[in-house]
Amino acid sequence: HVQNEIYQRKVRPSIPFRFEELEQMAREKLEDGPFYYVAGGAGGEGTMRANRRALDRWQIVPRMLNNVENRDLNVTLFGETYSSPLLLAPIGVQSIVHPDGELASARAAASMNVPFIASSASTYSMEEIASVMGESPRWFQLYWSNDLEIAASMLQRAEASGYSAIVVTLDAPMMAWREYDLENAYLPFLSGEGVGNYVSDPVFRSKLKEPPEVDRNAAAILWSQVFGNARLTWDDLAFLREHTSLPILLKGILHPDDAKLAIDRGMDGIIVSNHGGRQVDGAIGALDSLPVICDVVNGRIPVLFDSGIRRGADVVKALALGADSVLIGRPYMYGLTLAGEQGVKDVIRNILADLDLTLALSGQSSVSGCDASLLKDVKDGS
Ligand code: FNR
Repeated sequence: HVQNEIYQRKVRPSIPFRFEELEQMAREKLEDGPFYYVAGGAGGEGTMRANRRALDRWQIVPRMLNNVENRDLNVTLFGETYSSPLLLAPIGVQSIVHPDGELASARAAASMNVPFIASSASTYSMEEIASVMGESPRWFQLYWSNDLEIAASMLQRAEASGYSAIVVTLDAPMMAWREYDLENAYLPFLSGEGVGNYVSDPVFRSKLKEPPEVDRNAAAILWSQVFGNARLTWDDLAFLREHTSLPILLKGILHPDDAKLAIDRGMDGIIVSNHGGRQVDGAIGALDSLPVICDVVNGRIPVLFDSGIRRGADVVKALALGADSVLIGRPYMYGLTLAGEQGVKDVIRNILADLDLTLALSGQSSVSGCDASLLKDVKDGS
């Protein structure tokens, strides 16, 4: 029915429908620094291309006459039922594209009943984000600083402000070689963007010198500690486990042996992701990792997926290959760039409407009914 309302011009879209045009318009609106920070990837962007190749190599083989009149997009994760298999990925420094930043994205997510994953590197603090979301679902993403007291404090604040899961991002212990950002000498954190969560942290503040220096200090500490934490090992997960009773998901898993380790260490979920191609250039396309990881996990914990999802068909492919839910990153950042909260809402609405139609037209009436029999791998020639 979203589709009919659009054809009948009852709703006026705030953003273009086509991802390519959305990105192009964001390009025209933003300065080089922020645009390429969002759009770009690591190195020669081979991983970004691999993400798309991995999605494109699978083709849906639709089934007919399956009675798809009533569709159910519900997904249950950690005992909570969500109305769709979509979440907004954790993205820091959102004020570089729109002054309302994460507050606008979080409001949009809440109004569409899609969980918002707040980044440690948010412009606004996690409490400010929570305060615009009411009872709507939200998770917190931890950049695990070298300083364990700060990490513990973040976890405690997340619990106190109603976040219901912790996403621990493992693939960014330091920032990768990002050529556009180097060219533009652009790093948002150094200019004090994306430090809201830290400067509002009592433990973090207690480590700063004088209040007037807070922002610059915070940026320096962020740079050295948050993106400079190369010492962590699997043994360190015990600390997080002890400091929160919330479900913990590990984000950035690409190797099946790491998926096994996550289960061995008592983790509650994993997110198969290569950070949208922003960390290891030349890495495996994220979707190419998904089937083997789902085999290893064998339903013991939820497996989520991101990196390269742009349209409904991409979501269907990830679900069919075993993902329980997917995250989107750049698409909603472009919606935010062009039209703030409404832009993010429209991005979510469009992907969900496209997903619903693609599922139905493929002969599927539920997310749980999707499996690999719906797909053909065009690479294997069989
Ligand atoms: C990210 N991502 C990210 N991940 C994370 O765990 N914490 C963070 O603060 C950020 N920040 C961030 C900033 C920007 C500008 C982008 C584009 C991405 C990665 C993000 O969560 C997700 O993994 C990817 O964006 C998914 O890929 P797509 O959908 O952008 O292709």
